[in-house]
Amino acid sequence: MSEHALRAQLASLAASLFARGFSVGSAGNISVRLEDGFLITPTNSCLGRLAPERIARLDADFRHVGGDKPSKEVFMHRAFYLARPEAGAVVHLHSTMATAVACLPDVDAANPIPPLTPYFVMRVGRTMPLVPYYRPGDAAMEPAIHAAATHARAVLLANHGPVVSGRTLEDAVHAAEELEEAAKLFLLLRGANPRLLTPAQVDDLLTNFT
Ligand code: 13P
Repeated sequence: MSEHALRAQLASLAASLFARGFSVGSAGNISVRLEDGFLITPTNSCLGRLAPERIARLDADFRHVGGDKPSKEVFMHRAFYLARPEAGAVVHLHSTMATAVACLPDVDAANPIPPLTPYFVMRVGRTMPLVPYYRPGDAAMEPAIHAAATHARAVLLANHGPVVSGRTLEDAVHAAEELEEAAKLFLLLRGANPRLLTPAQVDDLLTNFT
């Protein structure tokens, strides 16, 4: 896809996420890999009202080379791209249900949301670790995200929100949506002792659908 088309797609998918309440105010940021760099949403921009031509452009070393000032969380996206060479896009949201799970003290930090449904496993993967709390924009979180992303397509930042990667921008957005739904189910079912997918069922999904 051309850079022009990717800019339009990014603005359109971001607006769709915003319209459905996955992001409010200026929360969240989205990036996509180009052949020779990256596009990333400008800092303090609203995902609902992005101007495609103003989306920031970074070179292959994540330096700002065009468009508006990039998100203060470029390092969060860089952690994923460097840890996961197959990642073509990264979506960070403060979506309500996933962020609620990120605030619970008693979840399994290695995998806070268990395998409840096939689409969560297919899109997000086997595990989604919880990364300890850092202030938004604090570059000190990069090594922690990088380490977690080496083994996972998505991470949950404690008391902050999810960061999700995908092979394409559409994949990453779909995974972020599935993660939010899985978080909602997890919260709905807390205390109900739900039946989980078995390890064999998870293996089957990851073998046959990814
Ligand atoms: P930016 O506006 O700098 O992208 O930051 C938004 C955000 O989601 C912080 O966590």
